[in-house]
Amino acid sequence: PTIYAITPTYSRPVQKAELTRLANTFRQLPRFHWVLVEDSAFRSRLVTELLAHSGVLSYTQLHVPTPRRYKRPGLSRATEQRNEGLRWVRRNRSLRNSGVVYFADDDNTYSLELFQEMRLTHKVSVWPVGLVGGRRYERPIVKEGHVVGWYTGWRPDRPFAIDMAGFAVNLKVILSHPEAVFKRGGSQPGMQESDFLKQITTVQELEPKAANCTKVLVWHTRTEKANLVYEPKHNQDVIHIEV
Ligand code: UGA
Ligand code: MN
Repeated sequence: PTIYAITPTYSRPVQKAELTRLANTFRQLPRFHWVLVEDSAFRSRLVTELLAHSGVLSYTQLHVPTPRRYKRPGLSRATEQRNEGLRWVRRNRSLRNSGVVYFADDDNTYSLELFQEMRLTHKVSVWPVGLVGGRRYERPIVKEGHVVGWYTGWRPDRPFAIDMAGFAVNLKVILSHPEAVFKRGGSQPGMQESDFLKQITTVQELEPKAANCTKVLVWHTRTEKANLVYEPKHNQDVIHIEV
């Protein structure tokens, strides 16, 4: 199967650094298609060029802007971009294609082993995520090969207490649930993953990966905001260099 990684991304000082780091991982993967979705009204030259020189052989560049009213602290991020990625997959792939869909945010850290694990996903696979949920890691608790609960510090009452980086979905499941999307209306912040998974699977049928969910192969790293206090305001005499 081909892995389809749907990555929402938005313009900010660290964007090129983040995408460079991701490309350095993704270009090492066989049978991989990168669906990069810009949070923007247009495709940016930065992303177009970065993809062209990324070494990732198979990719799609999409864009959709987040409505301004949703760009507020405390609200879910990248809902529209992930849905745009899902729409592309549903329009451009069919049941003849064998694939696995993964939502890969642009700031996380991904091991290569993670992709080996997720490639064999019959329906929906799950695994631990490092540095998230107010703990060193979150993980699905596994008994006799099935998920029976969640180890997390944050809202353990979530039906699927898992970060976006902690699951992958077989393409067949995405195609056979065409109505399954990320929701703003119904989803409180932090509930997008759980509300999406509810639409396509049950806890009972989740497939635990990474040695029965005992290994951390992906980290929910977050990049510090760049400090630009000394950035010149009037840029006479300063040549423009893309960062
Ligand atoms: C956590 C989860 O790991 C995310 O999957 C979830 O979307 C997010 O919470 C949420 O609150 O909705 P966090 O590290 O707090 O993630 O969020 P970011 O990494 O800042 O954003 C997630 C993704 O959305 C990134 O790929 C980022 O580039 C993208 N994004 C963020 C946009 O496309 N537009 C924005 O305005 C902000
Ligand atoms: Mn993040």
